[in-house]
Amino acid sequence: MAKSNFPTVSMFRFYANSGGILKNPLPFHHENFEKLGDSFRLKIGFGKSVIFSRDAGFAQYALQKNQKNYKKSTIQTVDVAKYVGKGLLTSEGEHWRKQRKLIQPAFHKKQLVQLLNTIQAAILTELNKIETGSAMDIFPVFNDLAFQTVVKSLFSSAVGEKEISRLQYITEATQQMLVKELRQPYLGWWFHLSGSIKYHVGLTRESREILKTLVTKRKSSGKREGDLLDMLLDARYEDGNAMEEEQLIDEILILFTAGHETTSNALTFTAELLARDPDSQDKIADEVEKATQNTNGLFEFIQACPFTKNVIEESMRLYPPAYFIDRVNIEDDEFNGMFIPKNSNLLFSMYEIHRHPDLWEEPERFMPERFADGNLQKHSSHYFPFGAGPRMCIGNNFAMYEMILAITALIKKYRISAESEKIAIHPLITLKPKNAILKFEIR
Ligand code: HEM
Repeated sequence: MAKSNFPTVSMFRFYANSGGILKNPLPFHHENFEKLGDSFRLKIGFGKSVIFSRDAGFAQYALQKNQKNYKKSTIQTVDVAKYVGKGLLTSEGEHWRKQRKLIQPAFHKKQLVQLLNTIQAAILTELNKIETGSAMDIFPVFNDLAFQTVVKSLFSSAVGEKEISRLQYITEATQQMLVKELRQPYLGWWFHLSGSIKYHVGLTRESREILKTLVTKRKSSGKREGDLLDMLLDARYEDGNAMEEEQLIDEILILFTAGHETTSNALTFTAELLARDPDSQDKIADEVEKATQNTNGLFEFIQACPFTKNVIEESMRLYPPAYFIDRVNIEDDEFNGMFIPKNSNLLFSMYEIHRHPDLWEEPERFMPERFADGNLQKHSSHYFPFGAGPRMCIGNNFAMYEMILAITALIKKYRISAESEKIAIHPLITLKPKNAILKFEIR
């Protein structure tokens, strides 16, 4: 079969729409998908272009079937790595493989069970910050909740509130700096000249010092807390060696970055969807009551809340926190007769795949039932909230357990309602909620 090229959107159309694209690129992408089909090439100037795709088969091909020919873009391996170092999310090749093999067991379900009491305690403390009566933005509560959960799963009670808030401040400040760099690449010279980049690299150095002190204290105490830090300190490579301290710090910084914003976005969107669906709230409340009576321990409780799990799955279908996954092909390739020259930048839109009318019934409707009774498997070829293939999220079970505990605790205590009909989004590096103003009443 003769190879053909992807339909192209000109640089002129890109620049004519640049104002809107900077605010929210999703409508521009949608319009082009509708006009040109499930994949197109967008010319962005200086001879550069990006291939956008909402073809679920193509995403699976690049992320899984032919993943050896697809690496991450420099956004993750250079831009993010500049601040958080070379940990799982930001590394490639043999180094990544070695680290993944070493760290994977710490995220095994059996190990995570040990962390559930710590996670639950962090959740309950944070949910206490919710005020009833007047409406409030729920995002900051979930943002703190997600950070506290990761930090305490790593360090148990060994870390003080002052250190946590400094670590959180630095993680968020560097992420905001990164957003600026990626959205305004033409200001790169200014970010260097004004010292902004240097300042933020300096901030991460401070984080590293805080983390080093915590690690040193743990090592010299000889105490075992059964937390993620213990698991990472115990882990051994094939040659019997443990991780170098600098590598351990990189991995911890990566867990903060990868596990914090994604989870707080997903929790906020879930609360927003529930606020507009009182029936689903009642179903969760019933499920929680029965699960509380019939189960022993948090792991059993989580297993007894399948509807809550479906609600979270459906929330991440409509609002996937990782709404794009990027790759670059190493050698020339082709997919379905379309030629992909080597070094093409590819962006797979999980947002569009998750709403594709050929793949989903009533794609715009919030219907948690679509994931009921093992239907997750039925959708696995076109549902990628945690990615796919060997680079799939290592924290997916951690995140699901955390979110089930958070949403059940929330609905057990409160009835939620929304001030507005529509859910507003803010697509940055992750898909963030905007003005998640909700009202809470004691149930
Ligand atoms: C709702 C919450 C979350 C979502 C939607 C999410 C999504 C993702 C996605 C899509 C990837 C793959 C990126 C790619 O292929 O380019 C990924 C990777 C990763 N995630 Fe998550 N994540 C979440 C929570 C977490 C948590 C809680 C942790 C850790 C505590 C975590 C740690 C990681 C790490 C370390 C990687 C890199 C894995 C590797 O490349 O080997 N994530 N995540």
